[in-house]
Amino acid sequence: MTPRQEIRFILNGRATAVPDVGASQTLLDFLRLDRRLTGTKEGCAEGDCGACTVLVGRLQDGALTYEVVNACIRFLASLDGCHIVTVEHLSGPDGRLHPVQQAMVEHHGSQCGFCTPGFVMALYALWMERPEPTLEQIETALQGNLCRCTGYEPIIRAAEAVSRHGTPSADYLMRERDATAKQLQALKDGNRVVTGPADNRAILPADVDDFAQVLLEHPDATIVAGATDVGLWVTKFLRPIGPAIFISHLDGLKSIAVTDADISIGAGVTYSEFDPVISEHFPYLREYWDRIAGWQVRNMGTIGGNIANGSPIGDTPPVLIALGAEVTLRRGADRRTLPLEDFFVDYGKQDRAEGEFVETIRIPRPADGQRDAAYKISKRRDEDISSVAAGISVQLTDGRITRARIALGGMAATPKRAAGAEAALIGQEWSEAAFEAAAVALAGDFAPLTDWRASADYRMRAAQNLLRRFYLEQGADADSPVRLSA
Ligand code: FAD
Ligand code: FES
Ligand code: FES
Repeated sequence: MTPRQEIRFILNGRATAVPDVGASQTLLDFLRLDRRLTGTKEGCAEGDCGACTVLVGRLQDGALTYEVVNACIRFLASLDGCHIVTVEHLSGPDGRLHPVQQAMVEHHGSQCGFCTPGFVMALYALWMERPEPTLEQIETALQGNLCRCTGYEPIIRAAEAVSRHGTPSADYLMRERDATAKQLQALKDGNRVVTGPADNRAILPADVDDFAQVLLEHPDATIVAGATDVGLWVTKFLRPIGPAIFISHLDGLKSIAVTDADISIGAGVTYSEFDPVISEHFPYLREYWDRIAGWQVRNMGTIGGNIANGSPIGDTPPVLIALGAEVTLRRGADRRTLPLEDFFVDYGKQDRAEGEFVETIRIPRPADGQRDAAYKISKRRDEDISSVAAGISVQLTDGRITRARIALGGMAATPKRAAGAEAALIGQEWSEAAFEAAAVALAGDFAPLTDWRASADYRMRAAQNLLRRFYLEQGADADSPVRLSA
């Protein structure tokens, strides 16, 4: 079949087809420069401030869901088959304000107004999901939106008041949901898409098998999943990324399978899509997970991307390594599986061959007597990169530690296990002395660097103290395991 050469989506209420979309064209530039939809603002161009927040609706397993994303680092090519909703679409045909806008006006939630469209879109998504949000839910929803002049109190009051101005069931997007889903379904032709000029080509494989094939044909291509790293290569470093293979639309990379033995997730599962698994199977990770980036980035960024980028300060590898996760890589039809820690070879170097991609991650289900914790140390509580991240998992049998897996980020060139500290724990009774010995041994496991996030000394002391904290939080009694979040 000849590949399709245009990207098709619905923009607000209008079916749209755009030919010749280059790999590096951002949604924000398309909206503002091409369509003159200038309500969506550019603040930071790196996913931090939320001024560019829009809603993206997409079909998954037949259901239409809307999520907030950052238009500044979202590539237009990745929106094939989606519904893009901008702030211009909110007020009614008669110009009447939307309930979210009305609440913002009444509670003085805007001063200079630059951040306001982004806040409005984030609050819109929150209101559709949770019409009566708690303060905690509002704060979590607004982690990815910054305001430099109003202050957050009036915006939070507005968020609490939206439902007094209208109910989500009467909202346009809700009322039109079935019709929009049908329209989006009709856009799915199962075809590969190849578009953009030769030096900035965007390729959207038809499915995962096609992705494997395209990557063999273009082993040097940039794989683009959620673009929360790759987007910044374009907006901040002006790096060419073509040819780029876009994979965020591939349902085959979004599976989550839970068995008695393990949980397998496709590399394309986003942080947000993994949320229900966290709540049900790893509740101790709840707080840690909500501290990864902000809502918009969690809706875009994938766990596969967080692993594949090989960053020493990614938040998922330490936790997954501590849980004993394995990663499956695929090249063409061939697959191989390795312990996640072995995937990280050196700074910027992963065990990934030409034409290979991350396909799935398998996490064993925690055993009885297993005590787990995850810790993130960063300068800001929300929307910040870790100075140190730790995943700790200890198996207790009859009061003795029979297995210990401790993995740290921010302490070496890669996410890495603490072999000495683990050895100091294994075979010991559950006791403060055992963890003190492990904290001392940790000093031989790592030689961290000093950079703008933290000094080497701070990193080492913080990591040692996390082991002590783990013991104190879990309790002195080996027979009463508790699973705490941190
Ligand atoms: P992309 O940007 O699409 O790709 C990242 C890299 O992985 C690229 O090299 C790409 O080619 C490769 N890749 C992607 N998928 C595959 C695959 N299946 N197989 C092979 N290669 C692949 N990270 C944190 O850990 N903690 C944070 O708190 C955090 N905060 C952030 C805040 C902001 C504002 C932003 C913009 C980013 C933040 N990040 C954070 C980083 C980012 O969210 C993650 O690294 C993200 O998980 C990357 O996933 P992605 O799907 O966006 O990957
Ligand atoms: Fe700041 Fe997009 S412009 S998040
Ligand atoms: Fe000015 Fe928020 S109202 S930045």
